[in-house]
Amino acid sequence: MKLYIWILALLAAPITPVFGAGRQKIGGASVPRFYYDLGPSQIDVSAYPKVQQENYKVFAQTCSQCHTLARPINSPMISRRDWSRYIGRMTVNSKNAPVKPITKSERDSILSFLVYDAKIRKVDYRAKFTAQTASLKEQFAQFKKAHLRQEQKKNANRQSRSYFYSGPSPRPY
Ligand code: HEC
Repeated sequence: MKLYIWILALLAAPITPVFGAGRQKIGGASVPRFYYDLGPSQIDVSAYPKVQQENYKVFAQTCSQCHTLARPINSPMISRRDWSRYIGRMTVNSKNAPVKPITKSERDSILSFLVYDAKIRKVDYRAKFTAQTASLKEQFAQFKKAHLRQEQKKNANRQSRSYFYSGPSPRPY
C-alpha cells in the first residue's frame, strides 16, 4: 500500500508547478501570465547584422528555459536601462530555479540583442508593434473572461454537490 502511494507521488511530480510564471515550461503550466505571452515566440533575424544573429541564439537558448520567448519578444520594454534591470532580475530567477544560471557573457549578448531588436521592431516599426500589442491585450482579456467563467462553473458545481444546504432554493431535501 505504501509503495503504491509513493509511485503515485512520483508520477505526479513532473506536473507539479515549481513556481508561478505564466505559460512557463517548468511545471508545464500553459496559463499565460502576461498579455505578451500570447504573441509570436520567435523573431526573423535574417536581415539583422551577423553579430546580432549570434546574440539571438544566446537569447533564444537562455531566455526560453522557464517561459517562452514570447514574453520578452512582445513585452513593451525598449530602453537599455529597463532591459538591463530585467536581465538582472532573470539572472536572480535563474539562480533560484533548476536551470543553468545566466552568466555575465550571456547577459552582455542578450542585452545587446534586445536593445538592437527593440529599436527595429518596437521603434522603427512602431505602428505594427502597437497594433499587435492592442490585439494581444484583447486576446488576453478574452482569455481571462473565459477562465473566470470556468472558475465560476467549477465553484457552482462544488456548491451543488455540497452535502450542506448553502444556497437559497431548491433545498436539497
Ligand atoms: C529561471 C527562470 C527564468 C529564466 C531563465 C528567465 N526568466 Fe523571465 N521570467 C521568469 C519569471 C518567474 C517571471 C515572472 C516573475 C518576474 O517578473 O520575475 C519572468 C518574467 C519575465 C518578463 C516579464 C516581466 C514583467 O513584469 O513584465 C520578461 C520581459 C522576461 N521574463 C524576460 C526574460 C529574459 C530576457 C530572459 C533571458 C535573459 C529571461 N526572462 C529568462 C523566469 C525566468
